[in-house]
Amino acid sequence: QSRHKGMSANLKQIHHPILEHYVSLIRKRDTGTGDFRRYAEVISQIMVLEATRDAGTEEQLIDTPVGPTTGHLVKDTIVFVPVLRAGLAMLDPALHILPNSSVGFIGLERDERTAVAREYYKKFPLKLDGQRALILDPMLATGGSLIDTIERLHEKGARNISAVCIVAAPEGIAAVHARFPDVTIFTAAIDQGLNHQKFIVPGLGDFGDRYFGT
Ligand code: PRP
Ligand code: URA
Repeated sequence: QSRHKGMSANLKQIHHPILEHYVSLIRKRDTGTGDFRRYAEVISQIMVLEATRDAGTEEQLIDTPVGPTTGHLVKDTIVFVPVLRAGLAMLDPALHILPNSSVGFIGLERDERTAVAREYYKKFPLKLDGQRALILDPMLATGGSLIDTIERLHEKGARNISAVCIVAAPEGIAAVHARFPDVTIFTAAIDQGLNHQKFIVPGLGDFGDRYFGT
C-alpha cells in the first residue's frame, strides 16, 4: 500500500509523523543554524528513503557469523543532483543511504528582484542515459530552478527524473508538471502559495541563507 498521498500520480506528498515534526521545527523563525542543519538532515534522510522506495534489488547469498542466508541488495544506480547552494544540505544524507551513487551538480541563483534563476555552475556525470536522476532541492517556489535543472539533465540524456523538495508551492508544482508531466515530485509540504517576492508562504524563509548562516 502506498504511503504517498498526492493530487496527481506524479506528485507524492510524504506523510510520516517524524517528518512532520521536523518540518514544523525547521519552519520556526527562531530555529538557529545548528538546529536548522540537524533538522534538514533528518528530513532529507526520510525523504530520500521514501523517494527510493521502488529501487530494484537483487538476491545475493550472504554469510552471517551463524550461517548462510539470502540478502537483497540494491542493484539500481542513482545519480543525485543537488541544486546549489541549498540542495547541498540534502546531499550528505542521501549519500549516507546510497554511498556509491554518483553526483551531478548544478548551481542556480535566483535574482532577488525578478526571481529568475541564473546558472553559474554545472558538472554532471558523463553518462546519464538509462540512469535514474534524483534532484535534491529543498524549496520549489516558481519552479524556474527545477525546470532549468530538468532541461539540463534532458540534454544529457536522462529520462528517469524525479525531484525531492522539502517545501513546495502549488505554482511551482503546476509549472514543472506543465512542462515535464513525467517528473515525479516528492515533497513533505504543499504550502499556500507565493508572496509578491516569490517566497513560499508560510514556507521557512530563505533555505540557503538559514542553512549556511549567510
Ligand atoms: C532557492 C532554492 C531553489 C530556488 C527555488 O535557491 O534553493 O533552488 O530558490 O525557487 P524557484 O522555484 O522560484 O526557482 P536560491 O536561488 O535562493 O539560491 P541558493 O540555494 O544559493 O540560496
Ligand atoms: N527559495 C527559498 O529559499 N525560499 C523560498 O521561499 C523561495 C525560494
